[in-house]
Amino acid sequence: MSFSTEIAKRRTFGIISHPDAGKTTLTEKLLMFGGAIQMAGAVKARKASRHATSDWMKIEQERGISVASSVMKFNYRDFEINLLDTPGHQDFSEDTYRVLTAVDSAMMVIDSASGVEAQTEKLMEVCRMRNTPIVTFINKLDREGLEPLDLLTDIEEKLQIECTPMSWPIGMGKSFKGVYNLYKKELNLFKAGAKTNDFDTVKISDLSDPKVDELLGTQADELRDDIELLEGAADPFNLEQFLIGSQTPVFFGSAVNNFGVKELLDAFVELSPSPGPRDAVERTVHPNEKGFSAFCFKIQANMDPAHRDRIAFFRICSGKFKKGMTVRHHRLGKDVKIPNATIFMAQDRAHVEEAYAGDIIGIHNHGTIKIGDTFTTKEALKFTGIPNFAPELFRRIRLKDPMKRKQLHKGLVQLSEEGAVQVFKTLLGGDYILGAVGVLQFDVTVARLNAEYKVDADYVATDFQIARWVTAEDDKKMSEFRRLFESNLSEDADGFLSYLAPSAWKLSYTEEQWPDITFHKTREHI
Ligand code: G4P
Repeated sequence: MSFSTEIAKRRTFGIISHPDAGKTTLTEKLLMFGGAIQMAGAVKARKASRHATSDWMKIEQERGISVASSVMKFNYRDFEINLLDTPGHQDFSEDTYRVLTAVDSAMMVIDSASGVEAQTEKLMEVCRMRNTPIVTFINKLDREGLEPLDLLTDIEEKLQIECTPMSWPIGMGKSFKGVYNLYKKELNLFKAGAKTNDFDTVKISDLSDPKVDELLGTQADELRDDIELLEGAADPFNLEQFLIGSQTPVFFGSAVNNFGVKELLDAFVELSPSPGPRDAVERTVHPNEKGFSAFCFKIQANMDPAHRDRIAFFRICSGKFKKGMTVRHHRLGKDVKIPNATIFMAQDRAHVEEAYAGDIIGIHNHGTIKIGDTFTTKEALKFTGIPNFAPELFRRIRLKDPMKRKQLHKGLVQLSEEGAVQVFKTLLGGDYILGAVGVLQFDVTVARLNAEYKVDADYVATDFQIARWVTAEDDKKMSEFRRLFESNLSEDADGFLSYLAPSAWKLSYTEEQWPDITFHKTREHI
């Protein structure tokens, strides 16, 4: 198979959703269609084990399991799919955001009873940074939920993306009859509890077809009214608009009943883009270029408790990876040979013989790889779009043995390089404030400080609630700001100045008062 065909058949995506919308259930069904798992429950079991995580050992055990699933590679039809896990629930973290910087498209799952929820809004903000194309699945139609049109309005208003239904539900909850596929002009009839995709599909000429009345009874006219209403209300699908992330095709179904999932997957592989060009500081890199390039978007530590190894996940942006190849680690200015990169299958990992743009490979890391690092065959490149995200939760770290300050510093610098947690050292007093996006990161950090750096530490509360990186063109203004806000200022692990605010109100007040200072939510363009 030719090099460009290999790349064209790849689809690399993540699922964005709020906890309990059905991401795990949907993932499982997608993997079953891809033949990657045979049995329902495999992904579920992993999630159940995640929920039990409270102490470090458990976290570690869970990591052993979850890493194989950080990327799930499977084949479907002629496509090679990389499904990247976007950790939710307690292990929601900056990693979740960063995974989205490594995908070419996303699938959004919405619970029909809840509409758009907080976590989806946050993840969507990240997708918007790169105009990631989004396919939407409205789930749980077998239950009573919000009216479909209200759901679309909710998505459009909260997420600022135009919705274009590809299918339309017929009833919901107890009266759920299935969906009408607007493009294929088919009725997909629902049957609860189906194990496979054995639903009846009935082709119709159009909605006036008497078969519609035969099959749907009194609900036939409801469907006709809905579609008439819809034709005035929603624009037809437009591939270009979808590819720039301004329109999302919407599907309705029920993941647990396997209903609508195959249609979703079929449309997804056909519509969503293959690996596209990516911007680097120097130039735009095209996937079909022969030279290999990749960047690190995630580091996973302690996957094997016996070895305390770490794996750096790289997204290949161009070219082809071959086992044993030598690449340049640009930050260190060194050539490194990669004898055994790992590729992640749904339930397994295997050594990679070769991999292409769009694929994710795992490389063993002995503390020399940082998030954002670039590996290429030769050319020096620095990919953009892998920012640090301002943390949303803060704790002040308390060292129990003051003699261990050096080790604490070392441990925190390393953990922040892995992207596990962000570290801010206050200008006044030199205390360490840790910032995270998910609360579990705090437990993981003290546990790892203890296990790997022999540092005994715990947390005390802090008043800080928001962090923003600050810059100014005018040095005088910055010195003035530094002087007045010294007790709110800190430096992150790379020495960037950050303002820590006690509330959103205080932040916006300070922003207003200091128009010459720029407050950055991500640390990319500083
Ligand atoms: P998540 O990963 O997004 O957090 O969601 P997950 O798939 O775990 O689903 C959350 C709950 O919603 C699960 O129920 C799951 O069975 C249920 N669910 C998923 N899809 C559908 C659907 O199409 N219809 C209905 N009615 N329910 C759905 P649970 O009670 O938390 O777990 P379980 O006991 O069913 O395993």
